[in-house]
Amino acid sequence: MTERITIRKPDDWHLHVRDGAMLKAVMGFTARHFGRAIIMPNLVPPVTTIADALAYRERVMAALPEGSTFQPLMTCYLTDETDPDEVERGFADGVFTGVKLYPVGATTNSAAGVTDFEKIRPVLARMEKIGMRLLIHGEEAADPAVDVFDREAVFIEKRLEPMTKDYPGLRIVLEHLSSRIGVDYVRAKAPQIGGTITPYHTLLNRNHMLGSGIRPYYYCMPIVKREEDRRAVHDAAVSGEACFFLGTDSAPHPMAAKLAVVGCAGLFNAPVAIETYAKVFDEAGALDKFEAFASLNGPAHYGLAPNEDTITLERSPWTGPDEVKIDGPEDRALIYRAGETIEWRVVEG
Ligand code: DOR
Ligand code: ZN
Repeated sequence: MTERITIRKPDDWHLHVRDGAMLKAVMGFTARHFGRAIIMPNLVPPVTTIADALAYRERVMAALPEGSTFQPLMTCYLTDETDPDEVERGFADGVFTGVKLYPVGATTNSAAGVTDFEKIRPVLARMEKIGMRLLIHGEEAADPAVDVFDREAVFIEKRLEPMTKDYPGLRIVLEHLSSRIGVDYVRAKAPQIGGTITPYHTLLNRNHMLGSGIRPYYYCMPIVKREEDRRAVHDAAVSGEACFFLGTDSAPHPMAAKLAVVGCAGLFNAPVAIETYAKVFDEAGALDKFEAFASLNGPAHYGLAPNEDTITLERSPWTGPDEVKIDGPEDRALIYRAGETIEWRVVEG
């Protein structure tokens, strides 16, 4: 049995770190093990301009522990009004790594998201021309007739498939894959499309969330689905195929907001993320594919070099922390797998 594994330093290709006291409380968890992370722009108000992204990057850097070499990769929040010139300038200046498409209403802070897919055509055409990645929250959410469990499948059919035909040179990341249909679609469209996979979509189905008591901490968008879907997402992750790579979608919320009458979507998993992926690969007998998923496939899809440093994990159980304290009125955020045995531990890097 493998007890110890060294891989190139991983990157997180989908991360929420928020702002203010929450940013200060959570940033260190990602910076301690990951080389880079794609920082989501769904602040209130969202990060829509170069100036916004530069200012946010400064705040992220200020929240890093002393001596950290972590590199935040900033994204531009796509709206109906986004100016292609601003996007191109931000990309050329190295401020924006990609553009993030949230369909309006699809998730937390998506009120400024895209309402009219005709209006974003000039931006998509420009991105195709300059080789800039489009990151997609792939759920059709505006139409109340679409069942919440079908949102990914409907988005793919109605929005994504036409987009891939209209812009064949546009490289896309379909984020947080949650369904068999999503996984199969990415596989069929690779290398134009790559897909990120969270730790929890490989482990949870809707029975975990709803089958014995309602567990609001498992509530996220896209919502966890049937066992068949979990299995497909899990198998895609551990396959090592180049089109699938790590993106935690770690999304901290104050506890009161998670447990409110209308609770918000998102699992804060950064404190146990790389360890949880290691468990998933280990239990699948696929630790030999772990480095490809965590550290190689993502940079390749983005046209970037992998990290030079390494990290080492060991099988050495510890207990997952319950919560992180946040300065001020927000108080605390609960952590995914709180109190569970975490089988793997990072011992170097
Ligand atoms: O569950 C989610 N939470 N999904 C998202 O897409 C956004 C995220 C958040 O920002 O809280
Ligand atoms: Zn997200």
